[in-house]
Amino acid sequence: MAKLANNPAQRVWNWIQRYLLERVLLRRPYERMYLILGGHIFFQTLSAAVELDLFSLLAKHRSMTREEIARALQCADQPIRILLLGCTALGLLCKRGASYSNTFLSQRLLVRDAPKNIIDVVRWQNHINYRAMSHFVEAIRANSNVGLQEFAGTESTLYGRLAHDDRLEGIFQGAMESISVQANAMLVRSLDLRGTSYLVDVGGGNGTNIVVLARRFPHLRAAVFDSESVCEIAKENIAKEGLSDRLDVWPGDCFRDPFPKEVDAILFAHFFTIWSGQRNRQLLSKCFDSLPKGGAVIIFNMMQRDSENGPLGAALGSPYFLTLATGEGMLYTWHEYKQWMCEAGFRSIESRPLPRDHGLIIGRKM
Ligand SMILES: C[S@@+](CC[C@H](N)C(=O)[O-])C[C@H]1O[C@@H](n2cnc3c(N)ncnc32)[C@H](O)[C@@H]1O
Repeated sequence: MAKLANNPAQRVWNWIQRYLLERVLLRRPYERMYLILGGHIFFQTLSAAVELDLFSLLAKHRSMTREEIARALQCADQPIRILLLGCTALGLLCKRGASYSNTFLSQRLLVRDAPKNIIDVVRWQNHINYRAMSHFVEAIRANSNVGLQEFAGTESTLYGRLAHDDRLEGIFQGAMESISVQANAMLVRSLDLRGTSYLVDVGGGNGTNIVVLARRFPHLRAAVFDSESVCEIAKENIAKEGLSDRLDVWPGDCFRDPFPKEVDAILFAHFFTIWSGQRNRQLLSKCFDSLPKGGAVIIFNMMQRDSENGPLGAALGSPYFLTLATGEGMLYTWHEYKQWMCEAGFRSIESRPLPRDHGLIIGRKM
């Protein structure tokens, strides 16, 4: 038969244990569990606020009451109350008395005019990745990008399928541009190309990287190696920048077509995460065969820690490559890249951690 503890000392001791466990030791883990369990709702809270441009509105007025916000957004009071509660609890807004204002974080990242805003990235997550990620468990079981079924077409990668939908393609390119512009500024600051004469940027997209590199190193010649349609865009950008005398494009498929003959450095920026380890090894061997003695291969990416316990950015990006983008990539560890370079024959391998979980690895053909 169940009995109540009637010894007062025992009752106090039980209360202290419960208090310590629930209110002190488990407080933070419980909060973290809320963030995980409610991830979809909290993301939609962020996304709704971004779509309504709430943070830009508050940046303009500095602080506003709920009634003023509801009126400006032309929404009913109760839905806005719910949205403001979510944004405030998540630390995206600050509430003093009856007034709401942006926090330092939202002012920096979620206001349309802020130079480092991530609005396009939020829109990409919402309109493209969110739907596909409901297929994550199927993707794990099938080891392929099952989430692709959410998009029209028969192509085997997201890049191919987006070509059918101008609106989604625009959202995707906007997010890629936003991620690349900020990350690639770090690449350009960290890379010393004084000893390089001709660099090829594989999967170089619209040519932003080689344009900035050519400005920094006035002797450098370089080319974007990408698909025919993307090379067209890069070529236009290069011409617009007045750099056609030193910069060029090399349309092709890097797995099938040869690299230009004079190349002495090959750059892969945000590229190896797309593909399987086996394909990446194949590419590194091809680089080794194509480069002259002293030539360099350069990898620039977000990195997974060698201990395989993070960072969060690697945990966030990897399911996307499996479930949607190609069905074969992920964010690999520093050690994997270095080992693949070594296996391909590269030596004198240097690595450099950079902000935002990025890193640079350079190997040389000796
Ligand atoms: C994630 S984007 C990276 C763009 C750029 N390197 C950056 O860091 O911002 C990948 C690029 O690789 C290109 N790409 C994909 N498969 C390719 C292939 N087999 N050969 C050459 N380029 C390819 C795509 O067209 C796209 O421009």
